[in-house]
Amino acid sequence: SYTLKINENNITIDSNTDIGILRGIETLLQLLGNNGKVYFFPAVEIKDHPRFPWRGLLIDVSRHFMPVEVIKRNLDAMASVKLNVLHLHLTDDQSFRNECKTFPRLHEIASDGNYYTQSQMKELIEYADERGIRIVPEFDIPGHTTSWIVAYPGLGSLPVSYKMERFYGVKDPVLDPSKKSVYKFLDKFFREMAKLFPDLYFHIGGDEVNGKHWNKSKRIQKFMKKHKIKNNKELQAYFNRKVLKILKKHHKNMIGWDEILEPYMPKDIIIQCWRGKETLYKTAKMGYYTILSNGYYLDLLLPASTHYLNDPIPENTDLTETEKGKILGGEAAMWAELVNSENIDSRIWPRTAVIAERLWSSSDIKDISNMYKRLEKINLYFEDLGVCHIKNQEMMLRRLCNSYDISVLKDFIKVVEPVKYYNRHKSRPYTIFSPLSRVVDAAIPDPSFPRYFNELVNDYLKTDNKDLENKILDILTKWRELHNKLTQLNSNSPLLNEILPLSFNLSKISELGIEAIEMKNKGKIPEQKWLSEAISILRIAKEPHAELELAVVLSLIHISEPTRLGMISYAVFCLK
Ligand code: ACM
Repeated sequence: SYTLKINENNITIDSNTDIGILRGIETLLQLLGNNGKVYFFPAVEIKDHPRFPWRGLLIDVSRHFMPVEVIKRNLDAMASVKLNVLHLHLTDDQSFRNECKTFPRLHEIASDGNYYTQSQMKELIEYADERGIRIVPEFDIPGHTTSWIVAYPGLGSLPVSYKMERFYGVKDPVLDPSKKSVYKFLDKFFREMAKLFPDLYFHIGGDEVNGKHWNKSKRIQKFMKKHKIKNNKELQAYFNRKVLKILKKHHKNMIGWDEILEPYMPKDIIIQCWRGKETLYKTAKMGYYTILSNGYYLDLLLPASTHYLNDPIPENTDLTETEKGKILGGEAAMWAELVNSENIDSRIWPRTAVIAERLWSSSDIKDISNMYKRLEKINLYFEDLGVCHIKNQEMMLRRLCNSYDISVLKDFIKVVEPVKYYNRHKSRPYTIFSPLSRVVDAAIPDPSFPRYFNELVNDYLKTDNKDLENKILDILTKWRELHNKLTQLNSNSPLLNEILPLSFNLSKISELGIEAIEMKNKGKIPEQKWLSEAISILRIAKEPHAELELAVVLSLIHISEPTRLGMISYAVFCLK
């Protein structure tokens, strides 16, 4: 917490801690304004403190490696929005990304050459610390461990040959909880890592263990009988208890995904809830500390508003004050199956800023339109900090156009967004080697232009204002021409072929909107034929292509919605 006072003569920041001063400086920097002639800080008096102590961002550096400079620029942005935990998901089936001197085959064999040396990791930890940010390492065990087992096959549950995993999803390889040698390995491993990572908390993952290899292993089945372990859940619990002892021995507390929640665990562990909010409340009620990630998955490419309204403690909660106190905060999660060092910033920022605000500010600050207004501003500020979310998109567009002139593709990319949830994986089997250099990789989630256009349309439909109508017609006219222009571009840029169905649909719905406005102005009721065609065009335009969707179809449905012209049920029909 801090207080910040600005008057004509002085700027004063007070805090009991150096970290409080850092937070105050970030606020001060964001208060810089200008009146067109001069820059100034407004005279204010701010008393500020965070609502939750754990305000994190997870970056998955396993599926795609993120070089030191990528992490550093993201740490700078995190500090600016007062986030204080960087959770590095360092290992997974696809790779092991941290140098390990005791077991060097981990980083040598299982990283494709891309890992953090210990001196780089120390540098990152120090860089984060200078910004009031803790680095919590995650070593995901016993599942998600193909990389470990490729490096040291004795860790695995089956005596088979293991290969590096290049695909995504839940995989079968899993550590063998019945082997003493596995715990000896983990003891030595954590001893080394405990020295490298100063944070009190070590994340052991624990998610998505499918148990298939445990079921197949005669040795493990025998072990379970002998120890009266009834099922795989109990077997994982047995494993977790052993790991907990190892961590304690090295003076670390355990944090894990919600799969590790078991009532026998001590109360100083932390449960990170990803599978649902109900688990968060259940965990708090059981007396465990917990943090929320469900609803904060950045890889689902959902709008900022969805994350913003996802409050760890909603107003209507039946939690007691003590139980509420168990909820330490939350973490945005940037899983990296489909991002690389080029476009990761554009998936993290600016949306993570709204999660940061949710975790810092009072729960009653939740006005969406005000949030988006402020988000636009801080979005530019991030660029000042070195975040590449805007400039890298431009670079990617130049590569796609094979030209310095990206104006046409820029107009197009403003109105599309990547398909949400895990739908990209449905269109093709992605591997860690798939190039992420298509239009969908350059497009951003929750683009601002469609939101602006939608507001324009809503205001116009309410007021019938001519200026608004002209603005909308200008935009529609531009969109109508886009398809032809893109078609010309693509002769020099084969990667643009796949978006042509979208630009074609955009030109069709724009034409429709123009016609609807013209008919309205002439007081003309559209004929049945026009209506059925319109419905079919809008339906087609809602379909994704090239893993992208047009983000303005709903606005166009509203414009051409003929209830204004005396017809009913059209929009309802389109929306189905
Ligand atoms: C997870 O998303 N498997 C934690």
